Formats: sequence, structure tokens, C-alpha cells
Amino acid sequence: MPSSHRPVLIKELTAHHRSRVMHHFISLDANDRLLRFGSNLSNELITKYVKGINFEHDKVFGVFSHRFRLVGVGHVAFVPRADRPLVDGVVQKVAELGVSVSSFARGHGIGSKLFERAAIHCRNANVTVLYMHCLSSNQTMIHIAKKAGMSIERDHGEADAYLKVLPANPGSVMQEALQEQVASLDYTLKSNVSAALHLFGFGKKNK
Ligand SMILES: CC(C)(COP(=O)(O)OP(=O)(O)OC[C@H]1O[C@@H](n2cnc3c(N)ncnc32)[C@H](O)[C@@H]1OP(=O)(O)O)[C@@H](O)C(=O)NCCC(=O)NCCS
Repeated sequence: MPSSHRPVLIKELTAHHRSRVMHHFISLDANDRLLRFGSNLSNELITKYVKGINFEHDKVFGVFSHRFRLVGVGHVAFVPRADRPLVDGVVQKVAELGVSVSSFARGHGIGSKLFERAAIHCRNANVTVLYMHCLSSNQTMIHIAKKAGMSIERDHGEADAYLKVLPANPGSVMQEALQEQVASLDYTLKSNVSAALHLFGFGKKNK
């Protein structure tokens, strides 16, 4: 991690954060929407997509700026049981990851940290393969994927990246729990500061 990077804390999001996730996606411009969703989704389709996220079944991670804005989102969607592939007679638990970082917050390690957190969560959830779909032209995401040891398969301008996830161990479980605890403390602090500023008439309240 370059020393210029601030520590990036990744917080697990719940249905309570749905409107913030929606706002984050709607703030992405046309090109970012294409990179993130595979097509330039309209605001209506983004709204429908976010309303459909099942926060109980999937895992959604977020990064909050010092101003308590949601500036990065990682969405881990678990492939339904019926669609899981068989390898050597063993059903593989597969998860797909989508990541986005607000344009003004890029280049500070947020995308990489969201990826790392998703990967460690998958490890602890017994996922065997973490998958990511992106355009071949998405050099930034491909760089992050390669850095994380993912194998990349390119086809007709699209790229599929696969990470073979290691089995969980006590260290990986502890690492995830600690990261979540620190991020929760940071979140509570930012939330309280934001509410206090709002109370005294400085800035708008983030929900
Ligand atoms: C891809 C994305 C998530 C990266 O977020 P980020 O917070 O800027 O990522 P990071 O700061 O962690 O890392 C960027 C890395 O890419 C590298 N990079 C940046 N531009 C690059 C380029 N054109 N080619 C190769 N590498 C590049 C940076 O040097 C950095 O590498 P390093 O950590 O080894 O120094 C962000 O650009 C984004 O939201 N894009 C739109 C949506 C998207 O493409 N999602 C991915 C598909 S699901």
C-alpha cells in the first residue's frame, strides 16, 4: 500500500443503507455504469436493481469518507445453489463481485480494499471461486484482479476474472471480525459527528 493512502475501512452494509447505495450508483457517470453493470443502466433500472438487492443473502460492503459519504461499494452475490458448477463431483460455491468507487475518491486504494474484504468474506463463507466480469478495456480493474492473483480469461472485448479461494482458518475469521469491528467504530463516530453538525446547522444530514 503506498504510504500516501489513508487507512481504508470497509463496513458491512445492511438494508438500512439501501438509499445510500442507490445514491452512490446513480452518481456514477455513463462510462462507469457501463464498466460496473455491463451496460449504461438508466436511473430507473439502477433503482430497480438496488431495490432488488437482498442484504440478507448477499454481502454488500461500503467505504465512508471522512464526511460520511458512501464513496465505495462492493457487492458479493452468491450464485444460487441450482446453478453451481460441479468440479470433480464436488459442487462449487461461487460468488460474483461488483465494485465501484466514486470518481473523486479513486486512486486511494478503496477499490483494492473492497476487493480484499470481499475475498476474505468469501473465504470465511466457504466460497471456492470468486468471479468478476468486466470489459477487457477496464485496465484498472484488471490490474486490481491480477494483483490479487485472479486468473483472467478474455473473450470478445469482455474479461472474466476468477480467484480460487483458500479454505478459511481461525486467522482469516479473526481478521474479518477485527476489520468489521474497527470499521463499525469508525462508522459510529462519523455518523455521530454528522448528526451533531446537522443539529447545529452545519451541512446536511446523511441517512
Ligand atoms: C475500478 C475501480 C473500482 C478502482 O477503484 P480505485 O479505488 O481507484 O482502485 P485502487 O485505488 O484500489 O487501485 C487502482 C489501481 O489501478 C491502477 N491503475 C489505475 N489506472 C490504471 C490503468 N489505466 N491501467 C492499469 N492500472 C491502473 C492504480 O495504479 C492502482 O494500482 P496500485 O494499487 O497497484 O497502485 C474504479 O475505478 C471504478 O469504480 N470504476 C468504475 C466501475 C468499475 O469499473 N468497476 C469494476 C467492474 S465490476
